[in-house]
Amino acid sequence: MVEKNIEGELAVLLEEGRRFFPPKSFSEKANIKDENIYEEAKNDREGFWAKFANELHWFKKWDRVLEWDPPHAKWFVGGKINVSYNCVDRHIQTGVRNKAAIIWEGEQGDQRTLTYWDLYREVNKFANVLKSLGVEKGDRIAIYMPMIPELPIAMLACARVGAVHTVVFGGFSAESLRDRINDAQAKVLIAADGGYRRGGIIPLKHDADYAIKETPSIKHVVIVERGRFPLRIKEGRDHWWHRLMQEAKPYCEPEPMDAEDMLYTLYTSGTTGKPKGIIHTTGGYLTGVYATTKLVFDLKDDDVYWCTADIGWVTGHSYVVYGPLALGATVVMYEGAPDWPDRDRFWQIVEKYGVTIFYTAPTAIRAFMKWGIEWLKKHNLSSLRLLGTVGEPINPEAWMWYHKYVGQEKCPVVDTWWQTETGMILITPLPGITPLKPGSATKPFPGVDADVLNEKGESVKIGGGYLAITSPWPAMLRGIYGDPERYIEQYWSKWNKGIYFTADGAKRDEEGYFWLLGRVDDVMSVAGHRISTMEVESALVDHPGVAESAVVGIPHEIKGQVIVAFVTIKDNHSPGKEMEDELKEHVVKKIGSIARPERIIFSADLPKTRSGKIMRRLLRDIAEGKVLGDTTTLADPGIVEKLKEKYTEE
Ligand code: PRX
Repeated sequence: MVEKNIEGELAVLLEEGRRFFPPKSFSEKANIKDENIYEEAKNDREGFWAKFANELHWFKKWDRVLEWDPPHAKWFVGGKINVSYNCVDRHIQTGVRNKAAIIWEGEQGDQRTLTYWDLYREVNKFANVLKSLGVEKGDRIAIYMPMIPELPIAMLACARVGAVHTVVFGGFSAESLRDRINDAQAKVLIAADGGYRRGGIIPLKHDADYAIKETPSIKHVVIVERGRFPLRIKEGRDHWWHRLMQEAKPYCEPEPMDAEDMLYTLYTSGTTGKPKGIIHTTGGYLTGVYATTKLVFDLKDDDVYWCTADIGWVTGHSYVVYGPLALGATVVMYEGAPDWPDRDRFWQIVEKYGVTIFYTAPTAIRAFMKWGIEWLKKHNLSSLRLLGTVGEPINPEAWMWYHKYVGQEKCPVVDTWWQTETGMILITPLPGITPLKPGSATKPFPGVDADVLNEKGESVKIGGGYLAITSPWPAMLRGIYGDPERYIEQYWSKWNKGIYFTADGAKRDEEGYFWLLGRVDDVMSVAGHRISTMEVESALVDHPGVAESAVVGIPHEIKGQVIVAFVTIKDNHSPGKEMEDELKEHVVKKIGSIARPERIIFSADLPKTRSGKIMRRLLRDIAEGKVLGDTTTLADPGIVEKLKEKYTEE
């Protein structure tokens, strides 16, 4: 926990509602120094985005910036562009060619640096490898890899030939991988033999083998040899990355893609048991992540930029790979855990590479707070000039700690709100001009129209409601893969078809600052990972001993939320520790370790409304010990009945 004296200090700061203004030395050199940018963008939204698009390379310029037929948007209509050309070819034509593009640190301390020219060569060769495997424009490619440079190389190679990548986070189980491959109908799987995590091995190829037993669409598997981990090779189907690369030609013509062609799909949890394949396209997406990386992270040529997110999540797609590489930045990439071999690993990396911009999740910050400042003190962090957070609401205490101890009170902290669906940051400070309030993501990015709406869709000027985005933005999702109706129903039907429903609660204060309050649907955020209650419930009822289950997320000091599952088991099974462990493992097998329930509460009955809806509020209160004390088993249905009487129908 935070030391006593800091707690006192924090309380005072929070009470006086203190603001943090950008240090003068920062503002003077910032990419954005002038508030007028908001007004300019408002007056000519399309012109504002076109200005950034114009900084990119286009084979053919667009005819129209935006075509908006709510809820369907097309950006840079008629334009032809290639994302890999913009992330590599463009830079090798300038003095950036021998600059470090990716500085990679393995968990075991190994290191690799790829210049832009190196990256260009690797991407070209791997693009030719894909072609040699029969990959064509529009084909889907699944990627299941640890955080190694071959992961962004594979993504950029897909973009080069016009194939659509679907990266599946290495922490997902074989079954999750299988379902995503089948939904995407992927033709090729790119994996690694394994990856390192906390000194142990994640057997990715082993899991992939299990998955592809039931994925008829997969014709080839390419395997990166990360650690000489034992594995089986199926002749004709499985190929070693390094062997294919040896034979690959050095240059592959980039495919001129339509601005609206698909760049990737990425699966994320919604309110049903089945994850959704969010579709992102080419021209608008690249423009959006390019503009936000430049302005929100104030990126300059000499920065060393480190976003700690795994590329398996959208943060890694937009702000490890596409945004920073489109800008020609030096990106640090780290394979492993923050506490391996010790709790100062992140600070050691910051010092070793002179990281200037550091972007991480509140969960990580809360863990650092708990571990204590002595870990920070071992290292020289003076290279840092800007800090960022993403993924979940940051509590003011964590914000203050981050600002004071990591940022040494000289680094602005950008709290950035966005989603897999939004593709790019939408609510955020601009670090050179925005006064910061700890815990607030501040204001919509220029050119972005956000509002706080009540149930009826009326704007709440000061107060709480739902966060809504009221006009299209370039990196917005274009659909859900294979499910056009769900796209409309999920995101564009709460009010009218022109207003995007974020499923986040928000509060707006007197100064127009946005305070994000978390999800209003049944999506949990566990250590910043998005998991739906329904997904975990379906995993549990898949176990032969489970009759029914209900899952809730309850607050947790470090992880934000943890999962508590209420389970009714069948007569021929008995509740107890053994069953609890078995069920937890079952969820891990079905979804992945990120979804492991913290607790299982066996219940003879689940409280439901007359219409059959589970009373989650009651369950949450029980899980948090607000009623019933520390009950681990709700054996007597009568107890549940009595409890229900205390609650009104939800
Ligand atoms: O609830 C919001 C929360 O994360 C959700 C999106 O999760 P995902 O699609 O996995 O993307 C995470 C990384 C962009 C949102 O609906 N969230 C994200 N950033 C913030 C946040 N909540 C509060 N403050 C943020 N800065």
